[in-house]
Formats: sequence, C-alpha cells, structure tokens
Amino acid sequence: MGRKKITVIGAGNVGASVAAYASAQELGDVVLVDILDGIPQGKGLDLFETTPVLGVDTSVVGTNDYKISQDSDVIIITAGIARKPGMSRDDLLATNVKIVGEVAEKAAFYSPGAIMIVVSNPLDAMVYTAWKKSQFEPRHIIGMAGVLDTARLRSFISEEIGVSVEDIHALVLGGHGDTMVPLTRYCFVGGIPVTNFISSERLEEIVQRTRQGGAEIVGLLKTGSAYYAPSASAVQMARSVLLDKKRLMPVAAYLDGEFSERGIFVGVPAILGSAGVEKVVEVDLTPQEMAAFGNSVAAVRELVKEVDRFL
Ligand code: APR
Repeated sequence: MGRKKITVIGAGNVGASVAAYASAQELGDVVLVDILDGIPQGKGLDLFETTPVLGVDTSVVGTNDYKISQDSDVIIITAGIARKPGMSRDDLLATNVKIVGEVAEKAAFYSPGAIMIVVSNPLDAMVYTAWKKSQFEPRHIIGMAGVLDTARLRSFISEEIGVSVEDIHALVLGGHGDTMVPLTRYCFVGGIPVTNFISSERLEEIVQRTRQGGAEIVGLLKTGSAYYAPSASAVQMARSVLLDKKRLMPVAAYLDGEFSERGIFVGVPAILGSAGVEKVVEVDLTPQEMAAFGNSVAAVRELVKEVDRFL
C-alpha cells in the first residue's frame, strides 16, 4: 500500500497551513489546489523543500488542475473569501456557496471515494453546500468547527487555572457561530469537573470569549481571519480519518435522527475513522441545554434555506 493522499483546496492562509501541518505529520502526499496561478505551485514547492529539514517523506505539489488530485483519501476544502473586520460569517454566504459548491463538485469527481473535510465559512452552510454539490454520502462529509471552538475554550481555561492544555477536555455543540453551545457540564480537567477550579461566573466569561474567538482574531489581524488553529484542527480530523484512529471529537456531522434532528449538518460529538463520521454520540442534555441546541439548529436551518436559494 502506497502513501495516503490528501488534497487541500484553497492555498491561502488556512490551506497552506493545512498542507504544512499534514506534511509535517507525515500523513501522506499533499496536493494543494487553488484558482490563482503560481500561488499553490510556489507554496507547494516551498513546503516540499521543507521536508528534508523536518525529516519527513511526503511530496507536496501545488496546481490549478484537479486531475492531479485524483484518488485522494481525504479532501480538505478551505477555498473561499475570508471574513473581513465587521463582516459576519453570514455575509460571506453567497460568494462562498458558489466557490465551495464548484470546488466540492470538481474534487469529488476525481476522488469519489474520499472523505471530505470542510473548513470554509459560514461553516454549517458550506458543509451542506459541499454535500449537495459532491453528492457524497452524508457521513463522508465533515465540517471543522467544534475542534477549533473547544481548542479555544481549552486554551483559555488552561491559562486561567494553570493546568496543561492536554488535561483539559471540553465539548461544544451546535452551529459554528454566535449560537454555539459550549457544554461546560462536560468540561473536565484531568477527569475533575472544571467548576472545581473556576467559578461559574468566570467560566461564563471564558465561554463568551470563546464564542467571539473568531472575531477576536479578525479584530487583531484586520486583514484576514484565524488560520493556525483552524488548520491544525482540520488536520487533527484528517489524521483520525487517515489513521483510522476513531477519535471522538466535536464536528459538524450529518444528523439522521440523532439529537432528534434529521437532514442537517450541525456540531455534535462524533467518532472519526476511515469511513468518515462512523458514529454520532448522543449525550443527555438539560432542558436549558436542549433549548440552546434547538436554537442553534434553527439558526443553521435558516442558513441552509438561504443556501438552497443560491444552489
Ligand atoms: N477555487 C479554488 N480556490 C479558490 C477559489 C476557487 N474557486 N476561490 C478562491 N480560492 C482561494 C483563493 O485564491 C485563496 O488562495 O481560496 C483561498 C482563500 O485563502 P485566504 O483568502 O487566505 O483565506 P483563509 O484565511 O485561508 O480562509 C479560507 O477558511 O476559515 C475559513 O473563514 C475562512 O472561509 C474562509 C476559509
């Protein structure tokens, strides 16, 4: 069996970082595709020339030609327009539906057996767009949001209480946006409930910062949106798929009755393996959490209705 093959669509900040992390972790050969001439080729060559320094054997190739992506195991979609300051994720909708729809269709044509990971925003709408246009089985398409949202939450909690990020586990449900539902009840530090370390008032402030995590970075960068944590999160998902690790993480997955929802992609805990989303894990919710989740799902359904108008 040869090496695995990973295609990254979009060679911008997120895509190039995905290619860098995937190659550094020796996950497989990487193909970087973009509409711009020279950018994917240049970044691909630069990354390939990095491999001897890192001591990894992977090829990295940049191209404008989807044929080169043929027979990929994983496709990671990062193409689109990044959010500018003051712009909500939803402002991006019309433009990114067109871009993501087109690239998902082309990539799927050359790699019908791949698992697709979508990073482009607004996330929940883009996963749905990629599903419609690729015509992949829904469990072969996964949206990256929860890993990033929980990474933000975990880093803030770690900083607050002075415990390693490794020992902090968190769970976020719902859409990737203002309606996300951080489940603090399921947040543990070395197996101990987080409320043992931190007051619920302070925790609520940290949750609020997490909710605004994307906007905080946009506000600082001014010329674009976050890319290191988003790309590392997408690569962690790809790694679980490529190595069939069956890691349990919060992702935007297709619901077919789980959490009493059907026909929609939304953030839930799921097991990721070589078959994509192998299982959505249901958890007990309090009436309050259930209401927040319902509210988030309703917001995603509204967004999807908008997408259907553009498709
Ligand atoms: N086909 C291929 N690539 C495209 C297309 C297309 N039709 N349209 C745009 N692109 C490419 C751009 O040429 C650019 O290189 O997508 C890339 C986007 O890169 P950036 O502008 O640097 O944006 P980035 O920060 O990488 O974010 C990409 O990920 O996190 C999300 O919200 C973010 O939706 C955004 C996406």
